[in-house]
Amino acid sequence: MSTLPVPDTAIIVVAAGSGTRLDAGAPKALVGIDAHSILRHALDGVFAAALAQVIVVAPAGYEGDALTELEAAAGGRRDLGRVVTGGATRQQSVAAGLAALWGDVRTVLVHDAARALTPPAQIDAVAAAVTADAGVIPALAVVDTLKRVDADAVVGPVDRSELAAAQTPQGFPRALLEQAYAAALDSGVEYTDDAALFAAAGHPVRWIDGSARAFKITTPADLDRARHLLAASDTAPASAAASIVRAGLPRVGLGTDVHAFGGEGDLWLAGLEWPGEPALSGHSDGDAVAHAIVDALLGAAGLGDIGEHFGTSHPEYAGAHADVFLARTRELLADAGFLIGNVSAQFQGNRPRFSARRAEAEAVLSAALGGAPVTVTATTTDGLGFSGRGEGISVTAIALVVPDESRRV
Ligand code: CTP
Ligand code: MG
Repeated sequence: MSTLPVPDTAIIVVAAGSGTRLDAGAPKALVGIDAHSILRHALDGVFAAALAQVIVVAPAGYEGDALTELEAAAGGRRDLGRVVTGGATRQQSVAAGLAALWGDVRTVLVHDAARALTPPAQIDAVAAAVTADAGVIPALAVVDTLKRVDADAVVGPVDRSELAAAQTPQGFPRALLEQAYAAALDSGVEYTDDAALFAAAGHPVRWIDGSARAFKITTPADLDRARHLLAASDTAPASAAASIVRAGLPRVGLGTDVHAFGGEGDLWLAGLEWPGEPALSGHSDGDAVAHAIVDALLGAAGLGDIGEHFGTSHPEYAGAHADVFLARTRELLADAGFLIGNVSAQFQGNRPRFSARRAEAEAVLSAALGGAPVTVTATTTDGLGFSGRGEGISVTAIALVVPDESRRV
């Protein structure tokens, strides 16, 4: 017999989707991120949160696999978990989970297994915010500039201050959620998420801050993002460094890069094409300024280096220009909870003559980093060394990053 107290909260982890968009040859929840599946990571997060009944909704035919993952994640809390079989839609899968609730449960959280890296603190925060008459969802304020479009025409602006991107777990008072599901079943309407279904039954829903790590793994690029995040936390700086991050101090990083002249086509440097100038050689476009900046930023955030994220094992970046590298780097930093303060880069080389296009280059690089100031200076070396002999270009960059407290949990 279990000695655990009976919890008044349950977490339904819906994992019964097929993962059409991920297209990995198996139900999405059972696809590996690293040595562990998406479902296992999601359940690790759930069991690290406060005590709750845990109901895993598995794809039909994969209940045994789901049970294996549940047992591995639950440890001493195995008695709190069970597996049920999902339905053809997410809504039907949630309904199957609701049917398995224990009698004592008063608060129900519904969580996508596909949000595998959701911080346990987000689960606890949602559970704590549910009241007897209102639901709660975690959401992120929208940072992108949004447009309303029609075919290829931009029709008008959208005021992003009115928008937030919903995440899970979504939490509700049990009795009202069960009634709302019964009403949805009667009406035959499929809602986009549990909050929409709950609101359609006339109940209020509030939101609290979500987190970047709670993104949903939907496409192969999302799976890649999850892999990078896990790899980065494996190599994360030891606890002393981590506690400095928590204290909110900025961090600096240094990056250097050297490329020889001798590539194909025109030169790409500092985010610009330089027609008529000899090209640098290298994987991608050889833009040593961009590459040094990427290393400085990754180094500052403790996220490894350019080879790891953009090297030859990532053929999708072959031939890519600075804007692609820098935008992806900014995304990696945002995922890890960092804002970019500024970047300063200097290259040593006889050519190109840089000063006339400095402002243009700085604008391109800065835009790719979401507007963080990027400054670039150039110098010759008085004829000394390889850059003085005109054999190549050498770049040094430093970056300052700051923990984004609103994105950390
Ligand atoms: N889900 C479910 N039962 C379904 C459909 C979806 O339990 N019939 C779950 C998924 O397993 C996932 C969550 O709902 O954890 C969010 O759905 P989504 O990301 O759309 O996953 P899939 O439906 O599997 O993916 P796709 O839409 O690309 O097929
Ligand atoms: Mg789906």
